[in-house]
Amino acid sequence: MKKVRNEREFFWPLKGQSEKEVFKDLRKALEENIDYCGEKDCIIGFPGTRVDPVAVKAVKMFIGFHPNNICTHTDNQESERGFQGTQRLEKDFIFSLGNLLGSNRVDGYITPGGTESNIMGLLLARETMASSSPEIDKYSVVTSVFTHYSIRKAVWVLRMGRDCWKKCDKCSFFRTPVKHFYEESSRGEGVALVGTDDAGRVLISKIEEKVREKYLKGVTRFIIVVSEGNIMTGAIDDSEAVGGLIKKLKQELENAKFYLHVDAAFGGFVVPFLYPDRKFSFFVPEVDSVGLDPHKMGMAPYPAGAFLYRKDSRNFRKYLGVQMGYVPGETDGTLCGSRSGASAAACYALMKVKGYEGYKKVINSCMRNTHYLRGRLGEIDEVELIHSDMNIVAFRLRGLGQKELSEELIDRVKLVSHTFPKDFSNPRDHVERLYKATVMPHVTPKKIDKFVRLLKQDLRT
Ligand SMILES: Cc1ncc(COP(=O)(O)O)c(C=O)c1O
Repeated sequence: MKKVRNEREFFWPLKGQSEKEVFKDLRKALEENIDYCGEKDCIIGFPGTRVDPVAVKAVKMFIGFHPNNICTHTDNQESERGFQGTQRLEKDFIFSLGNLLGSNRVDGYITPGGTESNIMGLLLARETMASSSPEIDKYSVVTSVFTHYSIRKAVWVLRMGRDCWKKCDKCSFFRTPVKHFYEESSRGEGVALVGTDDAGRVLISKIEEKVREKYLKGVTRFIIVVSEGNIMTGAIDDSEAVGGLIKKLKQELENAKFYLHVDAAFGGFVVPFLYPDRKFSFFVPEVDSVGLDPHKMGMAPYPAGAFLYRKDSRNFRKYLGVQMGYVPGETDGTLCGSRSGASAAACYALMKVKGYEGYKKVINSCMRNTHYLRGRLGEIDEVELIHSDMNIVAFRLRGLGQKELSEELIDRVKLVSHTFPKDFSNPRDHVERLYKATVMPHVTPKKIDKFVRLLKQDLRT
């Protein structure tokens, strides 16, 4: 709708349209979006699913009252008055997540998602290790080639290093040109991407090698990031082994400081239910902070991430935030400021209604379907399956030279694809395209059969 006001084009509706008309637009927009559970859609790539009806009910109950959960509620500091109800739900949810992940002594808050949780993890790492000397304050972030890009974004935002990728002529045959050589800083700071095993689990020996190399360049501040479920192959890094390495290096490398952050954005709602006997997250004493997303496998609506950090004598909470002023309390401890209390209500309701057994049932069902998908993909000679630790199935195309799946297929099923080193253990190796499906709760055997049929067709053309 274009009107002229003050001689310029004006797009804002002057009088307001009828609700009927506007909701017709909204319905059209809804139809343009995918429906994870829809009969006609076959969405097999994204780490999203239909929001659980319990969460929808909770959001509907609170959203109209506009509750603000600004500040951190696990620390007994004051915060915005008037929303004690949803702030209490958030506090209970964060403590319960800490308990699930191995610690009853945590602080934290519901973030807008994994990206903010990762930024906060690295911010906390930087602040707790900072000295007053710029030469000492060089931070090296050591992590695997499969680590989510939000870690590199965090390094960029926090000015701990630049993000630099170089193109290689040998790998220029892809439809979209790829820049796959990550250029580390010669001064030692910033991100270092290290290799993994064949499944995509970070190699502990490569972390050790990298730390020692950086230490010789004068770096003494190390932030190690592990993925408890990387989003591309579903591999779970061995946090316990990384913790053991940190313990050893702390004793050997004079003045070196370490911080261990776990990105469990995807796996935080999988690992505790699938591998309850493993040592993950806060069960590992060296782990300082964890990010996990209720809006992925937790089946909560966006925005819902969670950032948790240890509450102990180091008093991490004091490093987060600036003095507020008009909001009661000293510092808010968050990055984003005002936050929806409706998200807290949704997360809380899901946790209480599903309980441990309820989430376990969801994960077990996803895993049954994951095995079914692997079996069906195994029928196709050209498909080379990558081992997976959870409900993500990654594969490459074998023996087809430079063939890639068609854009049409990728778009139709929203398959996720990206290039990774042929030899995962060598980040500087040439790359191949990796495809992956995420077996979320809506991915049924029927959808899997449809996907496999479409994939076979695509490979024939
Ligand atoms: C492992 C991992 N970390 C971080 C993120 C970023 O999460 P968000 O998009 O919620 O910010 C994702 C998103 O897929 C992820 O899979």
